[in-house]
Amino acid sequence: MALKLPFVPPKPPPMEKMKKDITQSEAWKSIFRHSYQDNQRNRALQIVDNVFLHLHPVRVPRHATNYSFTWGMGGITFLLFIHLTVTGIILMFWYRPTEAFAFQDMKALMNDVAFGPLLRNLHRWAAHSMVITVMLHMFRVFLTGSYKPPRQFNWGVGVILLLLTFLLSFTGYLLPWDQLSIWAVTVGTNMARSVPLQGSEGPFSNYLGLRPDNDIRFILLGGTQVGEPTLLRFYVGHCIFLPFIAATLMAVHFWRVRKDGGISGPVMNTKASEGAKYIAEKMATKRIAQIKGAPANGNGTAAPVKAPAAPKPAAAPVTAAPSAGAAPAPPPTAGGAKAPPPWLKK
Ligand code: HEM
Repeated sequence: MALKLPFVPPKPPPMEKMKKDITQSEAWKSIFRHSYQDNQRNRALQIVDNVFLHLHPVRVPRHATNYSFTWGMGGITFLLFIHLTVTGIILMFWYRPTEAFAFQDMKALMNDVAFGPLLRNLHRWAAHSMVITVMLHMFRVFLTGSYKPPRQFNWGVGVILLLLTFLLSFTGYLLPWDQLSIWAVTVGTNMARSVPLQGSEGPFSNYLGLRPDNDIRFILLGGTQVGEPTLLRFYVGHCIFLPFIAATLMAVHFWRVRKDGGISGPVMNTKASEGAKYIAEKMATKRIAQIKGAPANGNGTAAPVKAPAAPKPAAAPVTAAPSAGAAPAPPPTAGGAKAPPPWLKK
């Protein structure tokens, strides 16, 4: 006679085991490559393992995070470029670059397409903003002296990026194909007539046999006046050619920022920075002693609580022969005060 046993449902694997099976699997480990424990190593791995984040350095000097130094203008310019690319691609769904359709398509976009005016204005405002922010970025690079070695090459790349930004703005201006755009581009391209060695009315044009139908303006317009070939040229330039070159150069620009040692910082190892460091340390020592109630020493400064490390000598030869009018070097301070930097002694 068969023994009838009561039904016992299979025991589910314990949660801990299940978790271990999942997190130890090959698939899991191929996606999550390190633990999330908050330590220096994992924080660094988080950056280098991520396709987007790895563009940033794992560590940056503190001053690089200071907005009042960079104004964040390079980053904002890049953000606007991304924004313009996205809104520009969406605009392409409603625009045909031909004499028959261009202006009609813009009117349809403004009157018939849902959120059309918003879309168009998002693109326009960002374009105007990018021109402003790129100029502000260049201005700040100039103010902070960041064009100096080793960053001269990146300044050069920046100058081309500035020109590309202006060209993107100029070519986009023609696309609505209204009176304003046609005449603005007519005036703008007329200037090309006078370019030396390239324009039909510029210096040396006679020697080179330049005529209105073979000079630089002709190449820009695709004819002797603004017309349908101009619209097509400007459209392709605006949507493909210029953004492609700009994106490539931006990659070079960011790569160079990394290779040049990150964002430039305050000038170090100069006579001025050593002096400033010396004075700052002296003041800090005095303040700490005041807080701790230690007696002040003879020369007006408080006795230091802990002798700070001697300042590093400047890397650059900063000790020019003292001139007749140079201030006399201060004597070594008594009462345990920190010695001045070597260049002050001379
Ligand atoms: C489309 C245009 C541009 C973009 C997207 C761009 C982007 C950036 C970004 C993100 C940085 C990092 C620091 C920061 O945000 O300030 C930077 C640094 C720099 N940019 Fe630009 N930039 C552009 C145009 C220019 C122009 C026009 C110049 C100068 C002619 C320039 C010269 C430099 C230099 C020299 C640095 C290094 C600055 C430093 O180390 O402090 N850039 N750029």
